[in-house]
Amino acid sequence: CPALPEGFDFTDPDLYQHRVPLPEFAALRRTAPVWWNAQRRGVAGFDDEGYWVVTRHADVREVSTRPEDFSARLNTSVIRFSEHIRRDEIEAQRLMMLNMDPPEHTRVRQIVQRGFTPRSVRALEAALRERAGAIATGARERGSGDFVADIACELPLQAIAELIGIPQDDRARIFDWSNKMIAYDDPELAITEEIGAEAAMELIAYAMNLAADRAKCPARDIVSRLVAAEGEGNLGSDEFGFFVLLLAVAGNETTRNAISHGMHAFLTHPDQWDLYKRERPVTAAEEIVRWATPVVSFQRTATRDTELSGTPIGAGQRVGIFYASANHDPEVFDAPENFDITRDPNPHLGFGGGGPHFCLGKSLAVMEIDLVFQAIADTLPDIQLAGEPRRLRSAWLNGIKELRVRYA
Ligand code: HEM
Repeated sequence: CPALPEGFDFTDPDLYQHRVPLPEFAALRRTAPVWWNAQRRGVAGFDDEGYWVVTRHADVREVSTRPEDFSARLNTSVIRFSEHIRRDEIEAQRLMMLNMDPPEHTRVRQIVQRGFTPRSVRALEAALRERAGAIATGARERGSGDFVADIACELPLQAIAELIGIPQDDRARIFDWSNKMIAYDDPELAITEEIGAEAAMELIAYAMNLAADRAKCPARDIVSRLVAAEGEGNLGSDEFGFFVLLLAVAGNETTRNAISHGMHAFLTHPDQWDLYKRERPVTAAEEIVRWATPVVSFQRTATRDTELSGTPIGAGQRVGIFYASANHDPEVFDAPENFDITRDPNPHLGFGGGGPHFCLGKSLAVMEIDLVFQAIADTLPDIQLAGEPRRLRSAWLNGIKELRVRYA
């Protein structure tokens, strides 16, 4: 592609150190919307010579909705060309639904959906509202601090713990494991691959135990509904363990970063913060997710020779779908560079491209984002920026590590 310099690499975490590469995505959308990014780094044990970068909204949707041509299983869903992934790990990753294809995926998804009905999500609202209020009040008492640690981290994990019914006394351990699992591309966090893998094993073992307990002795909670219901398909306790692992990653870092980016966007767009405080538009949370796009990309792998918008794709080739680019596609969004909390309609792809893997936790995430900003508007209306955000070093998560603020 003439638009990008030789050696440019969308999977290089250093590229994301200061920004998401939106200008580069824009150039590709205009000139080469399905673009081959030659790769030299490869994954240990694989001979990857490159992968496709899909940048237009319509094409990202198309790849997402053609699971028979574009598999989530073959190379799993997260684009990683780093030294951190090995072939044997790929097998383990496939135990998570994110990395399954139909019909296996369909079976698991139907079971776990029982835990994410609108009713189960609404049932959490009162408890989470109270918690969001308490988190904001705690921050006000501190006067100033790191918004990520003080506010953004807390609610997403509490929401998952509430949903699954994890006892209060066990939550600190769950939070610790979850936080260790994801950030190993960022050397500053000093989380090695081994620490991450160990944390994942511990979390799975904990969840499997919980499942085994409930299978023996069902209670009125979601674990019991997923592992112990009679007469329908259930999850085995190992499947449940990997499901909890997926929730801890998929529901934790994503929502945390949506909240942190949302706060930063409000603080740098004071007109939008004033509007939010006055009118609390219901469209705000979706715009925050579009603006932040916490999950920059996922990947699929072509199951056969096929094509996408006229570009031939070979069997076995990887296809990166870049939600961050799709969410700034001017074919779909008026003035995509504007943060506009009244944007409606807002068909962003921050929660996925509408295929079988579409985010299971979307309504929970939207509710959490709403509850947090309502609590901040009520309790910390004069919150101010006290430093530039420090970004997570990651090519996959659009993350903020630290956001210094004054609460009042
Ligand atoms: C899948 C984003 C919050 C659970 C996904 C996908 C994306 C995504 C992009 C992949 C969609 C696809 O491949 O088509 C987000 C964002 C969130 C968020 C941006 C917050 C702002 C949550 C929460 C939970 C959750 C709170 C649960 C507690 C899941 C699960 C999947 C998923 C289980 C896999 C679904 C499947 O494979 O069928 N999410 N998510 N997510 N998300 Fe979320």
